Amino acid sequence: MEEHFNGSLLDAVKAALAQLEGSYAIAVCCQDSDEIVAARYMSPLVIGVGEDGFYAASDVPAILPYTKRVIYLDDGEVALLRRDGITIYGADGDEIQPEISTVEWEQEHVEKAGYPHYMLKEIYEQPAALKSTIESLVEARHLEVRLPHLDLPPEFLRGASQVIFIACGTAYHAGLVGKYALSTLTQMPVSCEVASEFRYTPPYIDDKTLIVAISQSGETADTLAAVAEAKRRGARAITICNCTGSSIVRNTDGVLYTRAGPEIGVASTKAYTTQLAVVSILATHLAELRGSIDSVRREEILSELLKIPELAQKTLEDDSTILECSEHFMNTTTFLYIGRRFNYPTAFEGALKLKEISYIHAEGYGAGEMKHGPIALVQEDYPTVAIATAGEVHEKMVSNIQEIKARGGPVIALTNPGDDETRELVDYVIEVPQVPEMLSPILNVMPLQLLAYHIAVKKGLNVDQPRNLAKSVTVE
Ligand code: G6P
Repeated sequence: MEEHFNGSLLDAVKAALAQLEGSYAIAVCCQDSDEIVAARYMSPLVIGVGEDGFYAASDVPAILPYTKRVIYLDDGEVALLRRDGITIYGADGDEIQPEISTVEWEQEHVEKAGYPHYMLKEIYEQPAALKSTIESLVEARHLEVRLPHLDLPPEFLRGASQVIFIACGTAYHAGLVGKYALSTLTQMPVSCEVASEFRYTPPYIDDKTLIVAISQSGETADTLAAVAEAKRRGARAITICNCTGSSIVRNTDGVLYTRAGPEIGVASTKAYTTQLAVVSILATHLAELRGSIDSVRREEILSELLKIPELAQKTLEDDSTILECSEHFMNTTTFLYIGRRFNYPTAFEGALKLKEISYIHAEGYGAGEMKHGPIALVQEDYPTVAIATAGEVHEKMVSNIQEIKARGGPVIALTNPGDDETRELVDYVIEVPQVPEMLSPILNVMPLQLLAYHIAVKKGLNVDQPRNLAKSVTVE
């Protein structure tokens, strides 16, 4: 830029951008000038339009204290911010008229509201986030699904040959639960792929394939690239996303919004549980469209789902056993999390939470796979968290717990009230309200989030910004 500078910062930046390869989001300023030039390509950049000035940031929450009016730049666009106005240039260099959007989030959403950490605040916001998300997609009076931003014709959804969930990190675990929900309710092929694998080795895709990309931020580079690859091969794509105006929303054929509000803590909590609610709504909708469930079954599922926010509140009320466990196990060096069926992904997510913020090694495993390896590790200092709430596989989980106890391993079990059989077997019991198995991952993950949180806090770690991790991974 310095080499290209000939009196105009804008021209210098534009000339330098023409030489760049790869993704970028930059804001450039220059001594002796009060202008800022901002540009993006495959990385997020948002311009704030305030009363008293203009702002450039990678994310809406950074701008919220100043303005709710924003411009989402598109790939290749350049913004010139001056004291008296802004001008946006398209990828071809011509000036364009930007669309100004108003963000629904409030300033208080990005404050800690008396909580010591964003993560804790976000854990306790889950009942409200779930209520807002579920009520935006389920019409409670008639118990019907309403998907206002799903721009795909019902004929496509009826005739879709397969569904592939694509996501990264925590969102991938939501996709796994989605896979179980769709497989249970519909008779169609469903899979779930990690985006970083999918983008280089996609499975068979035809023009009847429906891609469901799940992303809190809508800016994860691998997820965006995987969606682009799937579309290139003829698939149609929709997204489950928490951020309006994000890249993924603009690059897919429809969106089911999670209404979790801004999630600041790096370890995802309320975005995850709202994603779980949305995948079950999507599964119910597809199943009814395709005639694999009738209206009675649909009403049953949706009425159970509408009770979830209140039960989430109940789940979070008593953290006494979790505090006890965090005290007891804070110096443990490794943990095992086991679950089956819908709670197989819960085991992964519980382990991921612990790894992310407490830096304790943890492994999520399908309980049925214990005998193929992990059981060899079980001994007195190797605790297992067993998700043993009601469902088709409960008895199997109880046998897995017995096998661990027989080998001297300590067990923390997640159970429903009244499950005395499991209580008698294990060292610690954390109770969660009983709900249908398909919806149980929503409640079951909450004590696991709290367990990871309290262990990390006891270890004096930076819960909201764990080392080496980023909230949105916008590079490969
Ligand atoms: C990062 C975050 C995770 C998140 C993942 C996917 O690794 O730390 O919390 O689950 O990215 O992010 P996305 O915004 O696509 O859901």
